[in-house]
Amino acid sequence: MNNLAHQSLAAYDEAKQQASEQTEAFWETIASQFEWHQKWDKTLEYDFHKPEVKWFLGGKVNITENCLDRHLITQPDQTAIIFEPNDPKEAAQHISYKELHSRVCQVANMLKSNGAKKGDRICLYMPMVPELAITVLACARIGAIHSVVFAGFSAAALAARINDADCSLLVTADGGFRGAKVTPLKDIADDALTHCSTIKTSIVLKRTGQEVAWNDIDVWWHEALEEVDDNCPAEIMDSEDPLFILYTSGSTGKPKGMVHTCGGYMVYTAYSFQNVFQYKKGDIYWCTADIGWITGHSYIVYGPLAVGATTLMFEGVPSYPTYDRFWEVCAKHKVNQFYTAPTAIRALQKYPVNLVNKHDLSSLKVLGSVGEPINAEAWHWYDDHVGKNKCPIVDTWWQTETGGILITSLAGVTSQKPTYATLPMPGIQAVLLDQEGNELAGENEGILAIKHPWPSIARTIWGDHERYKNVYFSAYPGYYFPGDGALRDAKGNYRITGRVDDVVIVSGHNLGTAPIENALNEHPNVVESAVVGFSHDVKGNALHAFVIVRSRADENETIKNELRALVAKTIGPIAKPDRIQVVSGLPKTRSGKIMRRILRKLAAGEHDQLGDISTLLNPEVVEEIKRNS
Ligand code: WTA
Repeated sequence: MNNLAHQSLAAYDEAKQQASEQTEAFWETIASQFEWHQKWDKTLEYDFHKPEVKWFLGGKVNITENCLDRHLITQPDQTAIIFEPNDPKEAAQHISYKELHSRVCQVANMLKSNGAKKGDRICLYMPMVPELAITVLACARIGAIHSVVFAGFSAAALAARINDADCSLLVTADGGFRGAKVTPLKDIADDALTHCSTIKTSIVLKRTGQEVAWNDIDVWWHEALEEVDDNCPAEIMDSEDPLFILYTSGSTGKPKGMVHTCGGYMVYTAYSFQNVFQYKKGDIYWCTADIGWITGHSYIVYGPLAVGATTLMFEGVPSYPTYDRFWEVCAKHKVNQFYTAPTAIRALQKYPVNLVNKHDLSSLKVLGSVGEPINAEAWHWYDDHVGKNKCPIVDTWWQTETGGILITSLAGVTSQKPTYATLPMPGIQAVLLDQEGNELAGENEGILAIKHPWPSIARTIWGDHERYKNVYFSAYPGYYFPGDGALRDAKGNYRITGRVDDVVIVSGHNLGTAPIENALNEHPNVVESAVVGFSHDVKGNALHAFVIVRSRADENETIKNELRALVAKTIGPIAKPDRIQVVSGLPKTRSGKIMRRILRKLAAGEHDQLGDISTLLNPEVVEEIKRNS
């Protein structure tokens, strides 16, 4: 598999050149290193105007044979997954490729015996335990489409996702451990299921051992598993059959179910994993993300397993039981590649550096960053104290929609530049556009766009192709528009400057402001609300909610607490606004549109940079907001 890797600058330059001059031939060479039941007859068919993208057309494949079966011949006893539990006193687990294969096949049979078949949607609402990765792979084994919902989401958010995809099966757990907290997953799922009619069976893994209510559709995982063996031939899938749906926030209330397909996603996640992290056989790789997000899908499960890597899964949080948990785990398992989010680095950097230094981090070779722009201070702290100035840092820019990393340096192969994601991967044609959609040349700042498809681009939004077109392909026809702004230096390095739409990245989590406003507006005493992001030294961004209440008598701490609770219940605790400000009006244009640009400035405290507000319908509310902030 290491034939995928460009291990020197010369090899990288050559790959880059080939990928830009003969893009399809380049991806054919990469794709031919995987196991296919039948080779594809056409490499690429696309039209960004329609939009339509298809890769490796006619190819027949099962991603789990590439992630599991083929490694049984070469390295059956190699550890595939290291599981580090939330509680350091609980023993870690090492699961070999042979064992993982057997457990995936068994769970696949369990899903089948509970009615699942190719094309069905299966919702996973589970803690970060090996059974989550196993269930993901088991779905892929039988061609069922998994939809993993992050275990921090509320019942309402879970129900909306189950209903959007008409899931027929739910796999959940009694509860989940996260730091000192226990999340009652089964209770939340039960609550969600009162609003769902399509789920026929709910399989419940025992993790915490807490008491749970029991319903007719519930089946214990351990009991169902006793009924089945581990012989489960892989379902043969078409390259373009859906592999999974993963929801991401958008500018409207409804989450977008991004659809990824089997062939292209497999090729790109494996290729990018291998190259970005420069993984060598036997290395221990750790990505601290949750499998509920795309980073976990692509770079805990599929990418690493496709190349036969050892991938570490961590159930806990960086602060539990103490603020050196990450470094303790790195030392304990002799981690070689460590991939985390800037928000975690900023949180840990506040504690004495001795918490890092007391652990032997000499195994570390590569550090990674993902999910939001990394500020210079965090970058240098990571470099100095964690990497001891000897580990390259890969700042990887990508999205749920892109499936894999698009802009990054390759560890130790290409140059890094603090706060810059640096260069597009081979085959990725990034450009900067001005507001009118003209391409900008050289050193510049503008809107980031991608000109040509890559194998792991999401193919559609589940059930809403029109929205897929509107969100990603309409603003700048002929380009994929990711929603981010960027700077480019004279050498072509990109620095991502942040979102240019109504999505705010809070602690690395993608939050649309519209669904939060909808939740706030549900409160009987709220008339209208507007939510914007403001810069926060640990979370990157935090949320400021401006709310109009029915009567000023309601303006007190009680309503603010009720509003926070409402958001937690409707979306999840991650979406709770840090600040709630009661206002008598929202600045609006004469056509009635909320001026978010002005609210962003007000939330940032930039009161003298509001620009001309005289054309507003109600400039007086701006003065009032200023006075009261
Ligand atoms: C942001 C996470 C700057 C960006 C993989 C993007 C980043 C959104 C970076 C996608 C980075 C991700 N530097 N910003 N290295 N990586 N982002 O879908 O705004 O959860 O559009 O995917 O995160 O978030 P998502």
